[in-house]
Amino acid sequence: MNKPSRKNRFQDIDLHQSPMLVFYEVTQACGLVCKHCRACAQTHALPDELSAQASLSLIEQLADFPTPPMLVLTGGDPFCRDDIFQLIEHANAVGLKTSITPSATPLVTNEAIGRLKQAGIHRMAISIDGADAKTHDEFRGVEGSFARSFDILREARRVGLPTQINTTLTPDNLDQLAAMAEMFAELEIVLWSVFFLVPVGRAEEVVRLSPDDYEKAFEQLWDESQRRRYMIKTTAAPHYRRFAMKKNREAKAAGNGSTNNGMKPPFQAAGINDGKGVMFVGHNGEIFPSGFMPIPSGQYPHDNVVKVYQDSPLFQDLRNANRLEGKCRQCEYRTLCGGSRARAYALTGNPFAEEVDCAYIPPSVDA
Ligand SMILES: C[S@@+](CC[C@H](N)C(=O)[O-])C[C@H]1O[C@@H](n2cnc3c(N)ncnc32)[C@H](O)[C@@H]1O
Ligand code: SF4
Ligand code: SF4
Repeated sequence: MNKPSRKNRFQDIDLHQSPMLVFYEVTQACGLVCKHCRACAQTHALPDELSAQASLSLIEQLADFPTPPMLVLTGGDPFCRDDIFQLIEHANAVGLKTSITPSATPLVTNEAIGRLKQAGIHRMAISIDGADAKTHDEFRGVEGSFARSFDILREARRVGLPTQINTTLTPDNLDQLAAMAEMFAELEIVLWSVFFLVPVGRAEEVVRLSPDDYEKAFEQLWDESQRRRYMIKTTAAPHYRRFAMKKNREAKAAGNGSTNNGMKPPFQAAGINDGKGVMFVGHNGEIFPSGFMPIPSGQYPHDNVVKVYQDSPLFQDLRNANRLEGKCRQCEYRTLCGGSRARAYALTGNPFAEEVDCAYIPPSVDA
């Protein structure tokens, strides 16, 4: 086990050696039934879920990366595990900065939020998928979930626990983007992470935005990022980096310094993507490039997670921009962006295929 260290300078990380973010899906159990759930989460834990002991050992192994990653305890709903505080405390003890993504259910009591703060949780992320209860609750499948999310976030603010909101954009909530941005300001969140649908799990049945709608969303996110105190990033839409870089260049050319807080490291500028700065360990120890790209690349505890990240042929190829195909291969933004590898895989079965949901045509591609 590494000796405890909080050093985690994202800009210095060699992405071939260490991921920035490791998602550990501690369970697939969850009290919500979202239409788009990549995990197809259901009410009860699956029998092959890693035990407490195996989870603690996994956490120790994650601390062995040359640069310790940020650990995100995710699910399912991490609060469905009885030993969740033990896992958090252990992650803290081995020097891993740890975030948690509970589902907004009555399990997240005020007492539990206080314990998260005491246990040293770095940040808690809560999902909100609309500007009103109807839109959100319909999407999450449980009435009252919208109100619960707000109660949780307000309590976290009260006790000084930093928060993040995750929102999945679909054609149903795209026109609520500005209203959501305004609502979230009141909650004093640190980061708004805007997810774009990856058609895996239950999301295979959900309608995605059109490529032109992505661009409209990017424009609005950019505008919001200029005036909000919280950072804004995208998840599964790395082409926002292409959009933001272009905006930054235009601002510079016009003599305006960029104020975009959404492009600051660690998240946007480094070009992280599935398997490139990101690794996912499933509830049963299966290792994937991300939660949205369920290509088995190893099996903990049989395989060492550090070795899988560094040496697995798939992970290595995902970090090699020369493996990209189609217009992403020819694109001048391919290192910074590269398209969502998870969506390419979900739609074509080829993790290196071009991003289907990007409207940009690189100049080198014949019209
Ligand atoms: C897998 S969930 C886990 C945490 C917690 N259960 C929740 O939903 O907030 C993490 C984030 O991924 C989003 N998500 C789930 N399935 C998705 C999909 N197929 N495409 C894009 N985002 C998805 C969720 O909405 C949530 O914001
Ligand atoms: S997206 Fe999250 S909250 Fe929704 S069903 Fe899946 S695990 Fe539960
Ligand atoms: S063409 Fe591919 S690499 Fe270029 S901006 Fe679009 S998704 Fe990114």
